[in-house]
Amino acid sequence: MAARATIFYALFLTSLELLLTRHVSFAAGGKWNLLLPNVGISAMHMQLLRNDRVVMFDRTNFGPSNISLPNGNCRNNPNDAVSKIDCTAHSIEYDVASNTVRPLTVQSNTWCSSGSVRPDGVLVQTGGDRDGELKARTFTPCNNDRCDWAEINNGLARRRWYSSNHILPDGKQIIVGGTRQFNYEFYPKTTSPNVIALPFLAETNDRGQENNLYPYVFLNTDGNLFIFANNRAILLDYTKNTVVKTFPAIPGGDPRSYPSTGSAVLLPLKNLEAVKIDAEVLVCGGAPKGSFILARRNTFVRALDTCARIKINDENPQWTVEKMPRARVMGDMTLLPNGDVLLINGGSSGSAAWELGREPVFVPDLYHPENPVNSRFESLNPSKIPRMYHSAAVLLRDGRVLVGGSNPHAFYNFTGVLFPTELSLEAFSPVYLEPEFANLRPKIMAPKSQSSIKYRMNLKLKFKVAGEVKGPVKVTMVFPSFTTHSFSMNQRLLVLDNVKFTRNGKSTNYEVLVRTPRSAIIAPPGYYMMFVVNQNIPSEGIWVRLQ
Ligand SMILES: *[C@@H]1O[C@H](CO)[C@@H](O)[C@H](O)[C@H]1NC(C)=O
Ligand SMILES: *[C@@H]1O[C@H](CO)[C@@H](O)[C@H](O)[C@H]1NC(C)=O
Repeated sequence: MAARATIFYALFLTSLELLLTRHVSFAAGGKWNLLLPNVGISAMHMQLLRNDRVVMFDRTNFGPSNISLPNGNCRNNPNDAVSKIDCTAHSIEYDVASNTVRPLTVQSNTWCSSGSVRPDGVLVQTGGDRDGELKARTFTPCNNDRCDWAEINNGLARRRWYSSNHILPDGKQIIVGGTRQFNYEFYPKTTSPNVIALPFLAETNDRGQENNLYPYVFLNTDGNLFIFANNRAILLDYTKNTVVKTFPAIPGGDPRSYPSTGSAVLLPLKNLEAVKIDAEVLVCGGAPKGSFILARRNTFVRALDTCARIKINDENPQWTVEKMPRARVMGDMTLLPNGDVLLINGGSSGSAAWELGREPVFVPDLYHPENPVNSRFESLNPSKIPRMYHSAAVLLRDGRVLVGGSNPHAFYNFTGVLFPTELSLEAFSPVYLEPEFANLRPKIMAPKSQSSIKYRMNLKLKFKVAGEVKGPVKVTMVFPSFTTHSFSMNQRLLVLDNVKFTRNGKSTNYEVLVRTPRSAIIAPPGYYMMFVVNQNIPSEGIWVRLQ
C-alpha cells in the first residue's frame, strides 16, 4: 500500500513537474518582431554606438545592394565581378529610436573585418579584403545624419582578414590573427613594424580548413589576454609578448573557430573588489573536425551540441563540458543585461563559408550561468527567418536583441539559392520585456544617460519600481560589442558591487550605491550601457562614459 502510494505520488509529481516545466518554458518564450523587411544590405557586421544607432556593413565587391549611396554618388569598383560602377551602399546606420536606416559610404572592401569602439565613442574598424585589407576606418557618431566613414590608408601593418580585435586598458586596440597571419598588431600603430609573432595561431591552424580564424579574445581580470583558437587557448601577456599560461584542449578536441564556427563569451564578471577576480569563459557549438571539407563535398555533418566552460584564473584550469538543447554552428552568443547568455542564429549542420551551412536553427536557447549544471538551458520561441552564415545579433539599450544578416553566397542572391540573402532586421525581445513584468521593471532616474563616471568611486543610482523589489538589486554594465561571424568582440558584462541599498520610506523610489570598477583592466575606458536589475528584470539601460 505504502509502496503504491509512493509510486502514485512520484507519478503525480512527475506530471506536475512536466506541467510546470511546460508552463515555465512557455512563459520564457520571448517574442520576435520584424523591424524592417529590407534595410538594403546584409547586416554582416554590426556595432551599437552611444547614440543608439547601429552601424552595419557587408562587402563592396559582390554586386549592387538594395540601397543607393547618398546624394546620387557612385563608386568605381574595378574589383567587382558584377558591377564595376556601383551606385549602391554597402554600409548603413540603423536608428533604433526611429526604426529607420540611412546609407553610408564605404569605399574599400570591408568584408570579414573586425573592430572596436574607442574610449571616446568612435568606432574603429580594421581590415577587410583586397583594397580594404590594410585599411583602418573610423566612424564618429552624430545625431544630425551627417557623419560618415573616414578611411585611413595603411592603417594596418599586415593584411587583416578574419581577425579579432579587443579594446585595451590604454584605449588602443589589439588585432589578433586573420587569414595567414600568425601574429598580432596594435592600432593605432605603436612601434615599427608593429607586428608580433604568435606561434599559437600557426599551431592551431588545421591545414586546408584553418579552424583558427576570428579567435575568441577576452581581456582577463589580471590584464592578460585570453586567446582561444580551434579547440584550445592561451593567456598572453601582450605587453611582454609572452604566453603566461596554456590551457588544455576542450575534451573531444573538435574545433570551435571559423569555419568550424562556434561562439564564445566571457561570463559576467562579479565580486569586482576581490583581490583576485574570477573570470570564466563559455564556448558553445562549432563543427566537428573535417566538417568544412566534407560540406564542400556535399556531406553536411551534424554540428557540435556542447558548450565548454572554464575558470581561466584557476591554478589548474579544466573545461567542464555541458550539453546544449541542440547542435549549433554559426550561432551568436549575446550577454543580456541580467547576466544570462542568449544563443541565437546559425544552423545545425555543415560549416561556415559560402553555401556550406544547413538546417537553420530557429530556436534561441537561453543559458543561465548561475544555475547548476544540467539546469542551465531554456529553449525559447522560434523565429521564422533562417539566419545562416553572415548573420549577427547585438544587444540594444532597451534590452532587445537586434538580429540581422545572412548572406551565405558570393553575391546578393535573392532567388535560386537555398538560403537567399536576407536584408531584413528583426528584434528578439526576451521574456523580461513582457508586460506582465512591467511592475518589477526598474526605471533609472539618476544619473542621466551620457553621464561620465570614474574608476574606483561610489556611484549612486536612483530608480523607481512600482511593484515589489527584492533587494539588493543588481547593477550591471555592458560594453557594446562589434559583432560578426558569430563572435561579439569586446563583449563584457560587469556586475558592480553593492555598497548600500535604500528605499525612501514606503515610496516607489529607491537608491543603490555601487562601486565602480577599480581599473581599466577590469573595465577598459569607454561608453557602457548601465542597467538596474530587479529579480532578473532589467531596467532600460543608460549610457555612461567610464574614464
Ligand atoms: C530594391 O529592390 C526593389 C525590389 O526589387 C527595387 O524595386 C528597387 O529598385 C531596389 N533598390 C535599389 C536601390 O536597388
Ligand atoms: C547569384 O548572383 C550572381 C550575380 O548576380 C549570378 O551571376 C549568379 O548566377 C547567381 N546565382 C544563382 C544561383 O542564381
